Amino acid sequence: MSCHINPSILSADFANLASELNAIKTADAAHIDVMDNHFVPNLTWGLPVVKRLKEVSPIPFDVHLMIEDADRWAPEYAEIGCESVTFHAEAAIAPIKLARTLRESGARAGMALRPATAVEPYLDMLSELDMLLIMTVEPGFGGQKFLDVTLPKIRRAAQAIQGSDAKLTLQVDGGITEETIVRAAEAGADCFVAGSSVYGADDPAAAIEGLRRAAGH
Ligand code: DX5
Ligand code: ZN
Repeated sequence: MSCHINPSILSADFANLASELNAIKTADAAHIDVMDNHFVPNLTWGLPVVKRLKEVSPIPFDVHLMIEDADRWAPEYAEIGCESVTFHAEAAIAPIKLARTLRESGARAGMALRPATAVEPYLDMLSELDMLLIMTVEPGFGGQKFLDVTLPKIRRAAQAIQGSDAKLTLQVDGGITEETIVRAAEAGADCFVAGSSVYGADDPAAAIEGLRRAAGH
């Protein structure tokens, strides 16, 4: 089994985003957190900024939309060429329709769940998705502590994916370090978002390799 390490530019230097993206080119994708100050109490960037960064960055984009009105906005990120677009289940009115629209636009379709959102109501739509994101912190801010209480949900999601014909990536996001990644990997996650533990390190490339080693792949 292979694992993916996707550094989050939420912990990067916002004055130098293009070079910060270049600093993680050994990663599998760049995790781009879009926040609207409604779905979460924080604000980052929107479509025009992501579009321009996409034009200057060689690494695939894994966009995580923490925004309301996901049905309206998520397809736009697929249209500008983002390889993976993840919307929140709590913010989508018609998640299956939205996932289909994303795939039709050539993106991988991802759906995210807040820590308190159960996975069971969504298990029958796994075949519509390319990625399931289990949040391991409350979305909105980097640098928070990994919530161990999410581990059983990761385990149940991994089992459901294994038992289905669907080939999904199981992503975790929030509080991922060389210590917590071991527990998340053991629970069945295979794609790890890491913001502060990569961009807070002196050598982001070494931090990426350290996470890969710790995940056991
Ligand atoms: C939080 C974001 C995360 C964040 C993770 O809402 O979705 O992607 O950047 O940051 P760390 O790895 O520092 O917890
Ligand atoms: Zn994120």
